[in-house]
Amino acid sequence: MLDVSNVRVGYGAINVLWDVSLHVAPGKLTTLIGPTGAGKTTLLRAIMGLLPLTAGGINLRGKPLNGLPTWKMPDVSVAMIPEGRMTFKDMSVEENLTMGAFPKAHRAKLAVNLERSYAMFPRLGERRKQLAGSLSGGEAQMLAMARGLMADPQLLIIDEPSLGLSPLLVNELFDILIRLKQDGRTIVLVEQNTHRAVAVADHVYLMQSGKIIHSQAAADVNLDQLHDLYFAR
Ligand SMILES: Nc1ncnc2c1ncn2[C@@H]1O[C@H](COP(=O)(O)OP(=O)(O)O)[C@@H](O)[C@H]1O
Ligand SMILES: [Mg+2]
Repeated sequence: MLDVSNVRVGYGAINVLWDVSLHVAPGKLTTLIGPTGAGKTTLLRAIMGLLPLTAGGINLRGKPLNGLPTWKMPDVSVAMIPEGRMTFKDMSVEENLTMGAFPKAHRAKLAVNLERSYAMFPRLGERRKQLAGSLSGGEAQMLAMARGLMADPQLLIIDEPSLGLSPLLVNELFDILIRLKQDGRTIVLVEQNTHRAVAVADHVYLMQSGKIIHSQAAADVNLDQLHDLYFAR
């Protein structure tokens, strides 16, 4: 589905990603783990066209994705749920969801997609008229997820969704990820909750200091060994 090949990306004169390559198979959940500052969000931003590549390339379904502007991502069925949720706080839950279906092609299916969101996230249905700014952290994360799904993306890219959630909500979140996978969606999940991420993943990449230092099928991962790599300097 998605192929990142020898990508270099930075901010101005400072390079962050060093020849990063990864492969995301269709219908699978690929997790990218690694400590804070490793470059995970930078890679997601590059995939979404928010940062230019200084070397390498990114292909989606065999066609170049780099160069495509971010606002065209819904046209190629790609959505990102950003770190920190980024909901519109002065808008209601339903208005936030409607924004997720803003591209013209998706407006016709607005009602159907809204109902699907409320079926998947019943608490959002109960709070559809409530301002997003008054939601709890967990509800805001669910809203960010639901908004990302409003355009019915095949490829869903999620940046640290469990950050700051209670253990109960983390369980709920991972249940939803499993359901999205069962629906046949392709997922790229960035997580610091290694244990949970590996449990739902098909493939695991470990990033450190802007490089992929380990790539393995999730079923073959030994968590102790992974943690040794994770904390190695
Ligand atoms: N907007 C920015 N401008 C300059 N440097 C940045 C910016 N965002 C992130 N960085 C730097 O890039 C590196 C990788 O950050 P990031 O991709 O956010 O890591 P992660 O998501 O793995 O925690 C860090 O050293 C960080 O300080
Ligand atoms: Mg990050």
